[in-house]
Formats: sequence, C-alpha cells, structure tokens
Amino acid sequence: MSTPHINAQLNDFAETVLMPGDPLRAKHIAETFLDDAREVTSVRNILGYTGTYNGKPVSIMASGMGIPSMSIYARELIVSYGVKNLIRIGTCGGIGSDIKIRDVIFAQGASTDSNVNRARVQGYDFAAIADFDLLVNGVEAAKRLGISAKVGNVFTTDTFYQASTDLYQQLDKLGVLAVDMETAGLYGVAAEYGANAMALFTVSDHVITGEATPSEERQNSFNEMVKIALESI
Ligand code: ADE
Repeated sequence: MSTPHINAQLNDFAETVLMPGDPLRAKHIAETFLDDAREVTSVRNILGYTGTYNGKPVSIMASGMGIPSMSIYARELIVSYGVKNLIRIGTCGGIGSDIKIRDVIFAQGASTDSNVNRARVQGYDFAAIADFDLLVNGVEAAKRLGISAKVGNVFTTDTFYQASTDLYQQLDKLGVLAVDMETAGLYGVAAEYGANAMALFTVSDHVITGEATPSEERQNSFNEMVKIALESI
C-alpha cells in the first residue's frame, strides 16, 4: 500500500512517531538513537524510519515545514497507517523575556494566525491542546534527565518573516512562550482523526532580541530534546 505522500507498507510504522521538521534530522535521529532502524518511506525525500529504543518500537518521520506539510503527513500516518501518538520535536523562536536560547519548551496549547482550526468548528475558536498523558510523560522524562523545561502556550505562525515584532510583544504579554510553524496544525489534525499529539522544542532563536544559536550548539540541544522525547515513550 501507499498514500499520496508516504510509500511505506501497512505495518511499517510504530504506534508512536517522532516528527522533526527536517528529513536529515529524521535520518540522524534514527541512525544515532535507534536500534535496527530501517527506512520505511522516502516520497519527496520526506524520510521516515522505524526501529527500537530500549526495546520499544518507535518511528521517526519528518513533517516538512509549516501547517500544510505537517497536516498532510499527520493525517496520512493516523488514518492510513494507524499511528496513535505523534510527537513533534522541533525548534522554535523564543518570545518571552525569560526564554533563553537552547531552552526546552513543551507546547501545552498552540494559538495560531492560521485559519485551519477555525475551519474545523464552523469559524469558531478551537483550543488546540497537547494530549495530557504525552505531555505529562514528556515533562517527567525531562525531570528524570535533569533537563529543565518550560510548559505553556505557543503560537504557530504561517509567516516566518513577520513584518514587525508588535505581534510578538502582544503574545509575550499574554504569556505565550514561543513561536513555531507546525504545532497548531498537528494538534488540530490529531483531534480531528482521534490520535494523541504533543510537541516539544528547543529554542533556536529569539524573535524579540534577535539572538540565534550557532549551528553546532543547535545540534547538541536538539539531541537533548530527542532524548527527552524517546525517554517519554
Ligand atoms: N522556528 C524556529 N524559529 C522560528 C521563528 N523565528 N519563527 C517561526 N518558527 C520558528
């Protein structure tokens, strides 16, 4: 079997799929952290792998960038491949003044400037939230690993290059921790099709101060976050 965007066989995916944005990150995670990892899909070079971590089956598949890309892969994984748990592992831009580069953030909820979740409820607001158990398991895994993490609302934007920082300043006042480009889409799709979803990130840049992480440090903090996600399963 296959879907328009995934050429895996029916039972190729584990119940839990970790989703970085970047296909080469998916490959790196599979090669570095999993045992017996094998590639299961490669359509458009959106790579997916299945292997085991501490003996438990787990898959890693890229989401691409933005709500539309994430929504396509999440929907096909849930509806056609029976995936139950989708965990986004990505980077985000910090918003709050107490958010530092390389911090780990869990997205308890995801606000957005996209219309996709309103379209799901006849134009009304839909509170896009993480699955509680996945969130608690993630936060507890971070604690066990001694990695401090923040939990709260994030903002999923369609516009990486915002015209001004006014929006971010308003979001800061409302306690929104960070900005990304996929989580509100993932949470909406999971709710629509009856799966569990959760997202965690490392902060790669700060949208108000303009600070950014050097690339080799980005890889180190990304690996820490991957460990949290894998240990949370
Ligand atoms: N992901 C990482 N940094 C981001 C930013 N500045 N805006 C949106 N998504 C991001």
